[in-house]
Amino acid sequence: MQASLIKYLLASDAPVDEVLVQGWVRTRRDAKTFSFLEINDGSCLENLQVIVDATLPDFEQMEKANTGAAVAVAGKLAPSQGRDQAWEVVAQSLTVIGEAGPNYPLQKKGHSLEFLREIAHLRPRSNLFGCVFRVRSRLAYAIHRFFQERDFLYVHTPIITASDCEGAGELFRVTTQPPPGRGGDGEGEPRKEFFGKPTYLTVSGQLEGEIFATALKNIYTFGPTFRAENSNTSRHASEFWMIEPEMAFCDLAGNMDLAESFVQYLVRDTLETCRTELKFFNRFVDRGLIRRLESIESRSFTRLGYGEAVKLLRASGRKFQYPVEFGSNLQAEHERYLTEDHFKGPVTVYNYPREIKPFYMRLNDDGKTVAAIDVLVAGIGEIVGGSQREERADFLDRNMDRHGISKEEYWWYRDLRRFGTVPHSGFGLGFERMLMLVTGASNIRDVIPFARTPGSAEF
Ligand code: 4AD
Ligand code: MG
Repeated sequence: MQASLIKYLLASDAPVDEVLVQGWVRTRRDAKTFSFLEINDGSCLENLQVIVDATLPDFEQMEKANTGAAVAVAGKLAPSQGRDQAWEVVAQSLTVIGEAGPNYPLQKKGHSLEFLREIAHLRPRSNLFGCVFRVRSRLAYAIHRFFQERDFLYVHTPIITASDCEGAGELFRVTTQPPPGRGGDGEGEPRKEFFGKPTYLTVSGQLEGEIFATALKNIYTFGPTFRAENSNTSRHASEFWMIEPEMAFCDLAGNMDLAESFVQYLVRDTLETCRTELKFFNRFVDRGLIRRLESIESRSFTRLGYGEAVKLLRASGRKFQYPVEFGSNLQAEHERYLTEDHFKGPVTVYNYPREIKPFYMRLNDDGKTVAAIDVLVAGIGEIVGGSQREERADFLDRNMDRHGISKEEYWWYRDLRRFGTVPHSGFGLGFERMLMLVTGASNIRDVIPFARTPGSAEF
């Protein structure tokens, strides 16, 4: 008999004579003549209750059916006598497949997020992380749907690359050089570069994305990116996933439209398809979550020039730790003021000073700002960063000179401006930041299956 997922059994509209359930015991309660097992198989938040009668030949198995044990139960799906659930399974056979013993670390009492991070190999079995990772999977699917419905092509950009797109020097080297002491022959002598030149883990697929956009028009990437920033914050990971659409024949306004409708689409999809998980987060993680998501989904985002944002912050009367003036980066405290206190909703800030942005952004006619956008949201700050790209060969060359970027190394990027150049635009959405938004998680480590952050790469 094929096993049924618990989510389908719980949604059944009639009793079923023969079912097979496979999962892990969450709790067990013993009465005089029978026992209850609460079983979870990860297909949904809810457990399925199983009644095991003491007269069952397999009843001796119950000794091993402790919290955490893996079990298989065959039986009947019948209306439940209890008030908490519509259906329960009356066991006809019970097999303990894998015991958990008395030292199973995930007991019923709530555990702290910090403790659960230390047991990242078991935390997907908790209610909270089951919900988080079901939402993560669904969100990835919604991202592909959004772009596929709009005829965007999915492009796989390389993970190993020789370029530093953001020019911030936050690169992880890729090398075949063994670590000290693990050398074998030739130890101490530097090896030849495997790829003939220094290579790194990518910080962004954008530059390669531009190549494909200027051939196939609308494209997106969705893959892992790596940054060696030593900022141990709750919003930065060393390895994170990014979605980067790129559109040919598209200016900054079109870019903002896409970025905002993308974020709204993802919020709407989560509201519609992950209702149980959202209710759980709303109850245990963040009491304002569902209301906030409904507001993001239904209200248009505020759009604000960087210059206006600076004026507004200066006029706010707030004492910020980092003072604001034209030319400075917006800090988390400024982003929070705009999204949480002033506009009480997402804000798209555009046209930043060129000095604080990378070489590829298009210079505006004022000669001082570039056609950049950042979408900011409450609790997180920047969730999207993007721009219209500099498509004019001479302007691009000047930018590269100013940023100290080698024109020889980026010959292919410059070629795009020589052969059939067009205005084009795109952005990057941080997948984990988006997940923080829809789950209410306040630490990025809690939306990543196995987080990589400075000083930590367990599992
Ligand atoms: O603003 P960023 O650095 O932009 C780029 O990488 C561009 N190449 C994107 C483009 O135009 N195609 O990063 C984009 C987004 C940020 O807004 C943020 O959501 C996320 O990526 N992000 C991080 N997420 C987690 N950990 C980090 N260390 C992140 N750095 C950026
Ligand atoms: Mg950015």
